[in-house]
Amino acid sequence: MSRYIIRANGPLEGKINIGGAKNAALPILAATLMTSGEITLENIPDIKDVQVMLGILEHLGVSVERQEETVHLVIPENTGTEVPYGLAKNIRASNLLLGALLARRQRASVPLPGGCNIGSRPMDLHIKGFQVLGAEVTLEHGYVNARGQRLTGNKIYLDFPSVGATENIMMAACFAHGQTIIENAAKEPEIVDLANFLNAMGAKVRGAGTDVVKIRGVQELRPVNYAIIPDRIEAGTFMIAAAITRGRVTLENVISTHLQPLIAKLTEMGVEIREENGSLTVCGTECILPADIKTLPYPGFPTDLQSPMMALLSLAEGTSIIVENVFEYRLTLAEELRRMGAEIKVEGQTAFVQGVESLKGAKVRALDLRAGAALVLAGLAATGTTEVFEAELIERGYQRLDEKLRYLGADIEKVE
Ligand code: EPZ
Repeated sequence: MSRYIIRANGPLEGKINIGGAKNAALPILAATLMTSGEITLENIPDIKDVQVMLGILEHLGVSVERQEETVHLVIPENTGTEVPYGLAKNIRASNLLLGALLARRQRASVPLPGGCNIGSRPMDLHIKGFQVLGAEVTLEHGYVNARGQRLTGNKIYLDFPSVGATENIMMAACFAHGQTIIENAAKEPEIVDLANFLNAMGAKVRGAGTDVVKIRGVQELRPVNYAIIPDRIEAGTFMIAAAITRGRVTLENVISTHLQPLIAKLTEMGVEIREENGSLTVCGTECILPADIKTLPYPGFPTDLQSPMMALLSLAEGTSIIVENVFEYRLTLAEELRRMGAEIKVEGQTAFVQGVESLKGAKVRALDLRAGAALVLAGLAATGTTEVFEAELIERGYQRLDEKLRYLGADIEKVE
């Protein structure tokens, strides 16, 4: 158990480099199992979720070497097909191994990912997609078992544009006979990155980033080297950190088109944002204007930035309304912010945030990685000392968050 101790230390100032996207690295690491040979991946963040995924690949027979943000993999001809519960239970993204292994090895057994603090996290859309392609899927003893000798392309409509289901079905369809069409597909940039990686290996995926993705089956994929996109959620978190401390922070290595929903919202709140090629400069202002937020699948406002925004809106001059439309439990952060003096009322999927003059340091707990990051940001702006417990949850998705914030002038230390 570790915790962050944060003391208000004025505005954040300076320049930081944004790391590779966690939610692109995880599906792309799973997709490496769809070929054999040597693959070098660049810009892979050294965070807990990636460490767990690399551990699972090693368990399946892949040799893994990491030099800073570069990962070198050697994938054998025949990898294992069963993911052990002990490893998979730590990350939901282990479910992405189903599509990759079903495609390459015609079989896969992966533990059903447990629910977590943000929602029930079902897999019904993933399973329905595999079944429409002709796979036999059973649920036994907490495992999802998928079998399918020769999958056949088909049309699949996703009731909800699920990121994971879109990625899993896209991978499962790569070797299927004929064409697969995924309708109402998720459009996140991380899905486009996965499709680009698959196509670089010789797949035929078209339309990623739109709500209709078409995959034409091929015989095999060949290993290729690849660099993944920057993490728009890490970037957004630092943009909000600049705003909440009324600081001036320049983010290097960002793709601002991936951040448009946040840029628009922060601009509406009076934050000054300047886009230069490959970097963004964010200048916070003394007066933070209230704003209303509805989280939606991309290109709507991202649910992963809803928590940091709740912290910022707690200090706005007026009332803001947040509607969380993606994960049912994601508003529970309000309880922890209330401990710091925030005035937030939650009714169902809506939070009414009445801005206050200032937040007060307190002992709080990270409920999930984004809520944890939000509490760190609140601590940067609060009077007194804030202790955020279960910091290891935050490290699942943020590489050296405390170090990067200290570099920008924050008074934050990690205590085991
Ligand atoms: C991905 O999770 C991300 N994780 C999440 O980031 C992100 O919040 C989420 O997409 C939404 O953008 C990774 O990419 C590893 P979904 P995923 O399937 O794929 C429902 C973070 O903090 N649903 O799009 O699990 C589900 O219950 C994490 O980095 C079904 O009903 O998200 C949820 O309400 C958190 N049936 C909604 O869809 C299914 O079969 C969105 O889930 C699948 C999903």
